[in-house]
Amino acid sequence: MANPSILILAGDGIGPEVMGEVKKIIAWYGDKRGLAFDVSEDLVGGCAYDAHGTPLTDATMEKAQEVDAVLLGAVGGPQYDSLPFAVKPERGLLRLRKEMDLYANLRPAQCFDALADFSSLKKDVVAGLDIMIVRELTSGVYFGEPRGVFTEGNERVGINTQRYTESEIARVARSAFELARKRGNKVCSMEKANVMESGVLWREVVQEIHDKEYPDVALSHMYADAGAMQLTRWPKQFDVIVTDNLFGDLLSDLAAMLTGSLGMLPSASLGAPMANGRPKALYEPVHGSAPDIAGQGKANPIACILSFAMALRYSFNELTEADRLEKAVEKVLADGLRTGDLMGPEGGTPVSTAAMGDAIIAALDASL
Ligand code: NAD
Ligand code: IPM
Ligand code: MN
Repeated sequence: MANPSILILAGDGIGPEVMGEVKKIIAWYGDKRGLAFDVSEDLVGGCAYDAHGTPLTDATMEKAQEVDAVLLGAVGGPQYDSLPFAVKPERGLLRLRKEMDLYANLRPAQCFDALADFSSLKKDVVAGLDIMIVRELTSGVYFGEPRGVFTEGNERVGINTQRYTESEIARVARSAFELARKRGNKVCSMEKANVMESGVLWREVVQEIHDKEYPDVALSHMYADAGAMQLTRWPKQFDVIVTDNLFGDLLSDLAAMLTGSLGMLPSASLGAPMANGRPKALYEPVHGSAPDIAGQGKANPIACILSFAMALRYSFNELTEADRLEKAVEKVLADGLRTGDLMGPEGGTPVSTAAMGDAIIAALDASL
């Protein structure tokens, strides 16, 4: 049987730096675990715009549709900020998500013991934290029509539209309930049903899916603003959070800081099963291209590495190997290795992006 296929889209800024460490880990799995992947690489974001005048070519889009999993680094950068909207680097990523129909974005926030002191919150608030934010990724205000900047009378008006169909809400709700059954069996759904009709529908549909299909899972509802407050007050009350595209974007950056750094948070963007039974999937760290530290060997590769661990789990069903990689990350953090974003008054051994990747590989070797 052919090896599973992976398309790497490293992107811009620190994307290629953190993805470089993932490539080493992919090679390690081939050499040491007999897990060989057919890896190809292509451009997305600003680098694709520079080469082709578009942040994602049709050819790359087609490849992404055909492979077993896409690994993405990050896109964007200040040099592209004034480009027309249609060719901004971020549009490349949004097109991948939309055309692959990756409606469920799993953003786990786990606080590793070694970093519990490092969070800006008190240690007992974050120690042992393990929550999963399920962000709807293909609809809502990111994609709703009408949108644009128009002229009305003698002034400009900027318009975006929050739009959700019943089936879009139902499918992401099912993803959240399925995940909850394998975890703490609790789902909290967040919207603003107090001010938005789309929020009223969101709440109703999530409740209906629960009552009909998942009555065994504990379901609660919260307004998203109160949810943000509760996430910082006592995040351990949550197990799975399900929310829309925009609220999920905000709440997951907030959750990142519960774990210590945005450089720690992985994600899996999943769609419907393909003919081979694997879900359509793209794995991407939650962070961006970090222009402020790009090109300096300072980026934390852990979010990107843990995103590959999610690929092992959700695309390739290699659960033991996913655990092995997560434990290797835990080990290097426990050993005190710290990229710049993780350096605080507690100290630690400062390391570069590459040294962090090498240490994780050494920990993988030690696990054999
Ligand atoms: P960002 O996530 O790139 O950076 C925010 C802060 O976190 C910066 O100080 C950065 O140095 C730090 N940081 C992020 N990742 C890190 C890592 N791995 N290691 C160490 N420090 C890290 O967000 P931003 O500055 O708001 O956006 C920069 C660009 O990235 C923008 O063009 C934005 O659109 C884009 N972006 C892309 C993605 C993506 O590709 N998925 C996600 C978010 C932002
Ligand atoms: C993220 C990013 C993206 C988003 C951007 C880069 C399109 O912030 O993945 O969290 O807003 O979804
Ligand atoms: Mn974001």
